[in-house]
Amino acid sequence: MKVGILTSGGDAPGINATIRGVGKTAINNYGMQVIGIQNGFSGLLYKDVVELTDQSLSGILNLGGTILGTAREKSFRKMINSLDEKDREQIKNAYHELELDCLVCIGGNGTQRTTSMLADMGLNVIGVPKTIDNDVYGTDVTFGFDTAVNIATDAIDRLHSTASSHRRVMVIELMGHHAGWITLYAGMAGGADIILLPELGYNMKVVIEKIKKRMELGKAYSIVAVAEGIEIPSKEKPAIYFAREIQEQTGFETRETVLGYIQRGGSPSPYDRNLGTLLGGHAADLIHRGIFGRMVAKLGSEISDVPLSEVAGKLRLVTADNDLVVQGKRMGISFGIW
Ligand code: F6P
Repeated sequence: MKVGILTSGGDAPGINATIRGVGKTAINNYGMQVIGIQNGFSGLLYKDVVELTDQSLSGILNLGGTILGTAREKSFRKMINSLDEKDREQIKNAYHELELDCLVCIGGNGTQRTTSMLADMGLNVIGVPKTIDNDVYGTDVTFGFDTAVNIATDAIDRLHSTASSHRRVMVIELMGHHAGWITLYAGMAGGADIILLPELGYNMKVVIEKIKKRMELGKAYSIVAVAEGIEIPSKEKPAIYFAREIQEQTGFETRETVLGYIQRGGSPSPYDRNLGTLLGGHAADLIHRGIFGRMVAKLGSEISDVPLSEVAGKLRLVTADNDLVVQGKRMGISFGIW
């Protein structure tokens, strides 16, 4: 069998471990041929491919980013959504000209939706969930998330000493366009006093009262963790908006930090390496068994798989009854609405 692997969407630590997991299992356990498709779905159209061997897959386990390159794929998505049958034919032809028996697509929500559409077109595909945001529906966790939480927690840890020395309020903005998972996990692990998530929204009065109350209680500083995706009434970065409002409305000196792409870069954590390795191995098993149209997933303690059609177009979001939210609330941490 000949298997193609591509990576699409924003990168995440653990992609290379996953490519290695799929590739080495396919080659060494099943005797398959494996090719890497470069720069996402457009590499499929342009047949921009590279042969992957046991040797070329060595030495990449601990590397961040993706050895195959990735892209946001607007033009491919336009083609696949096109009503013109010719566009879809072009995609099918590229798949068949490469003589693929299966295409493994490693990516986030957008990628899983595109992969599901390829399955509907009759192509043999397997999706592998990937994003630091941890918001792919149908899996309990995505690789990249653990690494990002470690980096974000370290950043919050470091803010404590400078915040306390200067008696300031520190606002840190963390990634999560739709979902506040990184902010919730790193905020709780880093001891943030206020955690603001897109899913829960906020009431500025509650935020201001919480900070004033902390100062009244003699607490010299406060840490506010905010997810980038929270809706605010201006176009600026949420960290800048909240820092300004807090300083103006409380009179306390406030500074902002936008952690940005550092959360996505660098070497994956051991957890993410092993998760990618296991998901990759499971993808190879499905191909060997001739099972397609599925997304591999971690469900509870099991490595499993779910139909792509059930995943496509959905998001996995934080809810108010999440264990960490409930426990944080019981301890007096503010989530912006209480
Ligand atoms: O990888 C997910 C994510 O980090 C989001 O949190 C963020 O909004 C987005 O990617 C930004 O990435 P890019 O600039 O590559 O589109």
